[in-house]
Amino acid sequence: MRSKLSKSSVKESIYQAFHECRLITFLLFQDMDEATFSSQPDPDFSPVGWHLGHIAYIESLWLLEHSAGSPCLFPQYRKLFAADGLPKSERIYLPNLKEIRYYLDTVREKVLEYLEVANIEQQERLWRFLIQHESQHYEIISFVLELDRRNEELGAPSGDKRRWGIERETSYSSVSLSSQSSKLGTFTEMIQIPSGEFEQGSNSSDALDNERPAHKVYLDTYLIDRYPVTCGQYRAFMEAGGYQNSHWWSESGWQWLQTQSVTQPLYWCSDAYDSKLHGDDNHPVCGVSWYEAEAYSRFVGKRLPTEAEWEKAVSWDARVNSHRTYPWGDEEPTAQHCNCVDVARRRHHLIGNTTAVDAYPAGQSAYGLYDTLGNVWEWTASWFDGYKGFQSYPYTGYSQVYFDHQHRVLKGGSWATCPWVLRSSFRNWYHPGVRQIFAGFRCAAD
Ligand code: AVJ
Ligand code: FE
Repeated sequence: MRSKLSKSSVKESIYQAFHECRLITFLLFQDMDEATFSSQPDPDFSPVGWHLGHIAYIESLWLLEHSAGSPCLFPQYRKLFAADGLPKSERIYLPNLKEIRYYLDTVREKVLEYLEVANIEQQERLWRFLIQHESQHYEIISFVLELDRRNEELGAPSGDKRRWGIERETSYSSVSLSSQSSKLGTFTEMIQIPSGEFEQGSNSSDALDNERPAHKVYLDTYLIDRYPVTCGQYRAFMEAGGYQNSHWWSESGWQWLQTQSVTQPLYWCSDAYDSKLHGDDNHPVCGVSWYEAEAYSRFVGKRLPTEAEWEKAVSWDARVNSHRTYPWGDEEPTAQHCNCVDVARRRHHLIGNTTAVDAYPAGQSAYGLYDTLGNVWEWTASWFDGYKGFQSYPYTGYSQVYFDHQHRVLKGGSWATCPWVLRSSFRNWYHPGVRQIFAGFRCAAD
């Protein structure tokens, strides 16, 4: 089969990506107990086992049913694993890991048979969509596991609750990665981005519907933080009574805060680790809602960047007047560039946690921004919306139903993002009150 596939380099690269993406997904489930598999640590998100079954369901629906014209292989799973099937609270009644693996393996076998005969010139975008889809669920699984682990740590008096490969110890390497000479109060530098046009979005075969079409945007001169906001900087906001004083909050932000018992970011460095052992003050804030990001920005007399401002500062190379796929250029992400999922070394995550914001000098953008892809997602000021000429693909429920001015755009990716999803044009979106994702932010100013 490999010899047949190698006749088409597109087929070969899709085969490789499907293979590697699935390996990484299964790694998350290695040695997992059944309770973790089907439990729901947060009512807003489905159990990790549901996400695994849903990955097979979507792959089967689009490649086998819609493209190959095959009948549904597992009709009994249709209702359970469709995104619009059951309420999240009813997704805890799952087949076990072995049964769901059988589902994935059976679908995948048929899919690879189909790949041999598929018209890849016509279908490349659909196949690439499925890699994007699985990678996104990979990240959701990662933060649901993190939420589960937190619940256990908070519930248990002490003891080692680590059950998977993402061990806290691995994050200790971040100490050596961080710049030891840097002190609190650094990382406040801003970069001036000169006025002019840049190209936003992408038409590449892996670009999702919401990234298309690529188009020119003119922006006036603005300033943007060179680094994401660090825990050390954010602590000043907390110590100044940031969570107790409505002064810095928007009306909707303050309203949101009154419904929460929130006094620090969800993944606040010092409650999970021994902060003395860590250079965590240099790590980006992780686990804040859009409202908290907005309040902090006002506290320091700045604002959040629009998504266009973020993307220009990250992807535009003014010297040659062109757009880069990644901030550093067009070379695919490696362990030198950013803190993301380490597919090459087949480990869950490179670090398993955030790293210092200056840990990856090789990942700088042409304008000199650090730490834009990987580490933490970055909230932007923009509502999620379609670009002019938007066309829904492969279904309106993927992006279009979220063009409702209820979702804010996040850019860049986190330490739990797979390399297939990391690119300057990628757009993520969530309700402004969501804190479970691995999200921080950087600020901008006029
Ligand atoms: C882009 C992460 C917001 O989780 O709703 C997965 C990704 N869409 N399956 C989501 C997605 C359909 C999406 N986010
Ligand atoms: Fe999905």
